[in-house]
Amino acid sequence: MKQFTSVAALREALAAERIQNRTIGLVPTMGALHEGHLSLITRAKKECDVVVVSVFVNPIQFNNQEDLAKYPRTLEADLSKLESVDTDYVLTPTVEEMYPEPVTDEYHFGQIEEVMEGPQRPGHFSGVAVVVRRLFDIVEPKRAYFGEKDFQQIAIIRNLLEQIKYPIELVPCPIVRAEDGLALSSRNMRLSPAARAVAPTIYATLRKAVEMSKTHSVEEVKEWAVKSLLAFEQPDGTIVNPETYHIFDPEYFEIVDDTTLQPVKNWEDSKGIVGCITVWLTGVRLIDMIRFK
Ligand code: PAF
Repeated sequence: MKQFTSVAALREALAAERIQNRTIGLVPTMGALHEGHLSLITRAKKECDVVVVSVFVNPIQFNNQEDLAKYPRTLEADLSKLESVDTDYVLTPTVEEMYPEPVTDEYHFGQIEEVMEGPQRPGHFSGVAVVVRRLFDIVEPKRAYFGEKDFQQIAIIRNLLEQIKYPIELVPCPIVRAEDGLALSSRNMRLSPAARAVAPTIYATLRKAVEMSKTHSVEEVKEWAVKSLLAFEQPDGTIVNPETYHIFDPEYFEIVDDTTLQPVKNWEDSKGIVGCITVWLTGVRLIDMIRFK
């Protein structure tokens, strides 16, 4: 595995690969790597000759400076995980290396950014698009791999590729979950043991929501999921009063068409429907999703 902090040096190494007709796969990350990231790399290794992983905490996609400051940075551990899955190239640039000039580009995505994460995190998706495009320009991959946990991000990147007309194949990869169901995320390491112990409730709620969708309307399922997280039932069966102990704080739970990301009113309204949720748990913002059909 070769590590690069210089964009120019990585470009040069990749140009040599391209001359030999080797296909390049890109896995963009912000580090704090877990099995979810490694599954993207393993998939990329199967489908491409050369795999490039970027580890870069992209400041311009954070609209909350505290969130940026608290974002876990674990480069040494990340590098050994990347070695363990036989990564070919790692790019670990500084902010100055990634953005030698002040960033003035802005991207807009219409209705797909007007829902869920969009209104909650103004400028977030434009910041994601800027860094992803920069990585596309540096690496010029044939395929790029993204995890489905950030379902809306995948729709944004698909739309970005249509806007910039790059012939890159976007490969969405399934969520990897801990044995107890919690979606793996770099943010999980910020959960206290007590919060980690109850965190699987989020996915359990999503699963129950799918169960309920067989007999209840979209509105009823949405209402039930939010209420049930607010009135979280403890393992001993007691219901925590949300007024006195507000452990789960759902930011949104939307049931949407899987392509337009627009909320659906009836289960018959779309061929593909997913539920996307963001929940605060003791100051940590957790995201998850599930497919209804
Ligand atoms: O999903 C992420 O980790 C980030 O949004 C990405 C795609 C690496 C861009 O910084």
